[in-house]
Amino acid sequence: MNIILLGPPGAGKGTQAKMIEEKFGLVQLSTGDMLRAAVAEGTEIGKKAKGIMERGDLVPDDIVVSIIADRIDEDDCQDGFVLDGFPRNAAQAQALDVMLAEKGIGLQHVIEMKVDADVLVERITGRYTCGSCGAGYHDIYKPVAKDGVCDNCGSEDLKRRPDDTAETVRSRLEVYSRETEPLLPYYGEKAILRQVDGMAAMDAVAQSINSILAA
Ligand code: AP5
Repeated sequence: MNIILLGPPGAGKGTQAKMIEEKFGLVQLSTGDMLRAAVAEGTEIGKKAKGIMERGDLVPDDIVVSIIADRIDEDDCQDGFVLDGFPRNAAQAQALDVMLAEKGIGLQHVIEMKVDADVLVERITGRYTCGSCGAGYHDIYKPVAKDGVCDNCGSEDLKRRPDDTAETVRSRLEVYSRETEPLLPYYGEKAILRQVDGMAAMDAVAQSINSILAA
């Protein structure tokens, strides 16, 4: 099974993708995580992407399309994947269609996570992650049990993203409504678009997604 999680910044795509990975064994493919890894490693792609990501703009299509094309060829993706943060505009959606057709694989569900804009800003500005194991937290909704220490692995390397400022979030939300929201009718016409209430608590959102995937 191959699926897309679609929703604005802070909708909970990454949070739910990790839960889907654990429950259904689908591999999480987050273009944001891949680009952040390239920035941290200082690769050519990372050098091109760094400033663009800090402004909240989209990295050029040719870069993200080739990252995804290479990644879904890897062995661990053959039993299914969950795309998190890709596609983000019409050109990427069309490139994905071509890629999947060439590989002879399908897309079963596109799940839209609906969350009000004011909640998104609060979610993003309160977010932090463990730099060691990648576990995600939030100042209010999911704080670590012991200050400064990851619950999952005990690391003290807790980080905030440079693009998680209130100002950049506003720009990311504008980019989402201009570039990504038009993909909803695109997938609606293909009759694979489903919706979940992303305003609910994390476990309730997971339950709604599980019902779609298990059907
Ligand atoms: P990317 O990393 O994809 O960021 P994003 O789409 O802006 O999404 P986020 O990671 O901010 O949010 P999320 O929906 O995953 O929410 P999360 O689960 O963390 O992209 C970053 C940048 O990379 C882009 O701006 C762009 O520059 C570039 N890029 C990436 N892909 C690209 C592409 N395809 N093309 C071009 N450029 C690309 O949740 C947020 C917080 O809320 C967390 O703290 C979490 O704990 C909390 N939370 C989650 N769910 C709930 C809930 N139900 N209730 C309460 N709190 C919750």
